[in-house]
Amino acid sequence: MFWIFAIMSLFIMLLILILPSPIPLISPHSLVTIDLSKDYTRQEIILLRKKIDTYEGININSGGKVVTRGRGDTALRMRSLVDCLAESHTCREYQKKVVILASKQFRDRIMGKVSGEAIWAGSILQSLDLLGFTALMANNLAEATEIFSIFKNLTTAIISDRGTMDLAKCWKNRRDQNCFATENKPDLLPIWKILTMEFWASCEHPLGTDWCLVPENYGAWLPNFKATYIGYSMENECTKIEFVPWDKRPNRTYILAKKSAYLKPERINLGFINSLATDYDIKFVMGTIEKLSIPNISNLGFLSEQGFQQELANSKVLLGVGDPAISPSPYNALCSGVPFINPIKTWNENKKWDRSAWSTQHDGLKYLDPPYVYNVNIHDADAIKDAIMNAMITPISGRYISDHMTVKSMLKRAESLILTDWCMKAKNLHAMRLEFGGENFYL
Ligand SMILES: *[C@@H]1O[C@H](CO)[C@@H](O)[C@H](O)[C@H]1NC(C)=O
Ligand SMILES: *[C@@H]1O[C@H](CO)[C@@H](O)[C@H](O)[C@H]1NC(C)=O
Ligand SMILES: *[C@@H]1O[C@H](CO)[C@@H](O)[C@H](O)[C@H]1NC(C)=O
Repeated sequence: MFWIFAIMSLFIMLLILILPSPIPLISPHSLVTIDLSKDYTRQEIILLRKKIDTYEGININSGGKVVTRGRGDTALRMRSLVDCLAESHTCREYQKKVVILASKQFRDRIMGKVSGEAIWAGSILQSLDLLGFTALMANNLAEATEIFSIFKNLTTAIISDRGTMDLAKCWKNRRDQNCFATENKPDLLPIWKILTMEFWASCEHPLGTDWCLVPENYGAWLPNFKATYIGYSMENECTKIEFVPWDKRPNRTYILAKKSAYLKPERINLGFINSLATDYDIKFVMGTIEKLSIPNISNLGFLSEQGFQQELANSKVLLGVGDPAISPSPYNALCSGVPFINPIKTWNENKKWDRSAWSTQHDGLKYLDPPYVYNVNIHDADAIKDAIMNAMITPISGRYISDHMTVKSMLKRAESLILTDWCMKAKNLHAMRLEFGGENFYL
């Protein structure tokens, strides 16, 4: 009896010795940063996991399933990163490079939005995923700062935009704001890791134009404009919709307009529609949620993304009416072998041929020619009519995706963006501003 008792006590004592001490309670905002210089202790990994749990905890919980609304599977990616860190050396090469996506455009895209900005963001996200970087989504500055506090040293870039993070304003009030790090607040986002997405040809970043990302290579036709061209690709999406051979398509013009207001005669003269419809049996369609009552234009109503691509694939030309500018839709069309009529809105009266002076609906396409793009004066109804007639008899032999719009090119640009040594660039800039003046920043 005594021996049984003695052995059991010994066993219990051993158990107490072997079991780890209880996990300390942590406040949700205690900072757990990762030190890449050493392996992680078990305790550090436990803290990281806890931290991620609290992060996931603020997501919307529906029916027992954690739905990371607008954050994609950010919590999963975090967990998988911590798991591979815990089992040292199992992380994939790029997995340890964290990119924080702090722009509403990413969320919008995940929620199904098809604005140009959202489609652009979606392509960036897709590329980072395909390349194997750890892309984590934040809906605002506070969430971005929170994620950054977890993966501080692993964070290679924070991609934001003006709407989500007003860098100019932050910079102006940097002494008393909570946007980016300063001497007094070293734990906030470092300005030199923040890249800002600018959809239009503009750039506002306190560190200069390299830190601005744009969807089109504006610098090609605007020699004084500088930014980092990241671009996008829709190849993976548009090629999912079957290509319709030319002779299987109706003689149909798709009018690129989601509102009938775009078709007002003072904006564009579409007086030729009735005669083309009546004399040549050319059909005109557009997709709007409004009740449309324009003779000879049928309304396809609301179209899903795939529905839109399908309707395009069953048309012979996409007619632009002046707006929206820089929209991805003409790329959708070309991908289905459908040419785009690109209205020229302003030009140099003395040098009408000078494309650099043209302002067109889609300047990214103004240097292309038929059979792909028909650039026509928006006020010249006869020229638009001729372009439609020509498009009806001038097939494009297959899908047209320009080199820079392919997934392959996009991946190349995205990879080189993330592998850029932003720290080195920032240090050089910092040293230069020290020597020559200029408002300096916290490194
Ligand atoms: C993060 O990296 C810096 C240098 O890049 C290093 O000095 C610092 O110790 C690291 N901090 C942590 C917590 O890993
Ligand atoms: C389309 O128009 C062309 C030229 O007017 C005509 O030859 C062809 O038969 C038409 N195709 C269809 C499907 O209506
Ligand atoms: C086109 O519109 C005109 C004028 O409203 C109408 O007379 C004609 O029947 C229409 N044509 C077609 C093909 O619907």
